[in-house]
Amino acid sequence: MPWISEDRRHTRVAEGQPLLTESLKAVLRDKYFPRYPSKRAVLLPALHLLQHEYNWLPTQAVQEIAEFLEIAPAEALDTASFYEEYWLKPKGKYLLQVCRSLTCELCQSEQLRDHLSQKLNVDPGETTADKRFTLVELECLGACGTAPVVMVNEVLHENVTTDRLDQIIAALPEDPHDMKDPGMTWDNDGH
Ligand code: FES
Repeated sequence: MPWISEDRRHTRVAEGQPLLTESLKAVLRDKYFPRYPSKRAVLLPALHLLQHEYNWLPTQAVQEIAEFLEIAPAEALDTASFYEEYWLKPKGKYLLQVCRSLTCELCQSEQLRDHLSQKLNVDPGETTADKRFTLVELECLGACGTAPVVMVNEVLHENVTTDRLDQIIAALPEDPHDMKDPGMTWDNDGH
């Protein structure tokens, strides 16, 4: 497969303003640096922190984090582009992630994907025109015993049906930050 290069040099989203704000730097300095053996080792959680703040990782933010951690921008961008969970282009407020691995596939995950595709009028990998939803498929989430599963941002839903999916989407708050704490809610919907 040929390499496809993307020109991201002009993706500054806040001309003149740093995306790695003083408050984010303070979090890195006070909470992250003490836990890791070097600044370089903080790169992955730092990228998560920035993505949580902006919902994706603009190149400008990756450059700024590289400078702050005293590593080459190319190293930070290489890392960010290696892992699927980092988004180098904008995504919707809500990331709808349908597991497509074997167990979920046997439990009709394709129906869930197609249902979402039709309901939202997007193909997997696309974002709705109102920027509210991005639909993706991903590999096994380690919850095969309760397949099929769908993750909405960081909340896992198990034993999902198309009806249940409609309920889940209808219940999403306007602001994703108002969702329940993802660290506390691996939501199995009572099944
Ligand atoms: Fe879907 Fe394992 S195959 S969670």
